[in-house]
Amino acid sequence: MKPETDALLQMGLSAHRTGRRGQAETLYREALKQEPRNASANNLLGALLMEMDKNVEALSFLRKAAMNAPAYEAAQTNYGSLLYVLSKKGEARLALAEAKTWAKKQPQNKVARHWAAALGAGGDVQAAMPESLVRNTFDGFAKEFDAKLAKLDYRVPELIAGALKDVVKPPLDILDAGCGTGLMALHLKPWARSLAGVDLSPAMIERARSRKLYDALDAGELVAYLKAHGDSFDLIAAADVFCYLGDLGPVLAASQKSLRKDGLLAFTVEAADAGHFTLGQSGRYAHGEGYVRDALAAAGFSVISLARDVARHEDGQPVPCFVVVAGEGR
Ligand SMILES: C[S@@+](CC[C@H](N)C(=O)[O-])C[C@H]1O[C@@H](n2cnc3c(N)ncnc32)[C@H](O)[C@@H]1O
Repeated sequence: MKPETDALLQMGLSAHRTGRRGQAETLYREALKQEPRNASANNLLGALLMEMDKNVEALSFLRKAAMNAPAYEAAQTNYGSLLYVLSKKGEARLALAEAKTWAKKQPQNKVARHWAAALGAGGDVQAAMPESLVRNTFDGFAKEFDAKLAKLDYRVPELIAGALKDVVKPPLDILDAGCGTGLMALHLKPWARSLAGVDLSPAMIERARSRKLYDALDAGELVAYLKAHGDSFDLIAAADVFCYLGDLGPVLAASQKSLRKDGLLAFTVEAADAGHFTLGQSGRYAHGEGYVRDALAAAGFSVISLARDVARHEDGQPVPCFVVVAGEGR
């Protein structure tokens, strides 16, 4: 990148971060005049326009950033988010056509394939949301997460704690799996001999750290973490995390190995009315009750409780979930 372009982008970023959006837009556009194909400049301007709800205008910039730089995770994440927003805001055909072209041009790109499948543009439904997409999405969301979830009437930590309260026998060594900013920790701490947390997003982990409730926190992928921590926990709680995994086989098998004898696994999934698992337009997965029960049995768990409830509201509509407590069945 030319030094002049870099200087314009740095000034733009500083304006953007301090809420001076008009000034940021001017500076990003100046940078693009210097280097029209620059992926950072296209990504930053596209993301800014999206923030300003100028979604159709953002499209050409984010498309260029994502297409020209398949390894640029932030651009991939932003382009996918934009397609989802467009599909919700009356531009479903446009979003679908974009997703189709993206996946066709970059057939190895897991993020492109994920959004193509989610938005109905065809292709395979992958076993899980790509890790880079989870990490970037939640890194970008960490600062506002608690406030936004409160507005959506997010209840999953309370629901899991309610399902566990009559079956736990503290003190326990506990893992908060996909701990995010640590909302679940507030409920787990009173039962904990030790409390560990793992999450793919370093920014979410930093928020969790500031609560000072955890004995250990790791930024990493959950299944890999569980595999590296055999026979370590009496309770694993995963609040609103398995909706980023379609195939529950790997995470349940790894949880089984990571739990001690008579250990408990508590989690939620978004509820699908029937069948296996499905990938929704949101990019998250939903699971059928039969599938959850079969997957638990296949991994050697017995179901202690499974109840339908409401995880949160989205666009004013309740998001149904299953709240599950399962026992390590060895
Ligand atoms: C909706 S948030 C829930 C956070 C927290 N459990 C709570 O209830 O507030 C989902 C979290 O799961 C994490 N996550 C999703 N898939 C993951 C994976 N495969 N490994 C580790 N963390 C994951 C995300 O980074 C995100 O922080």
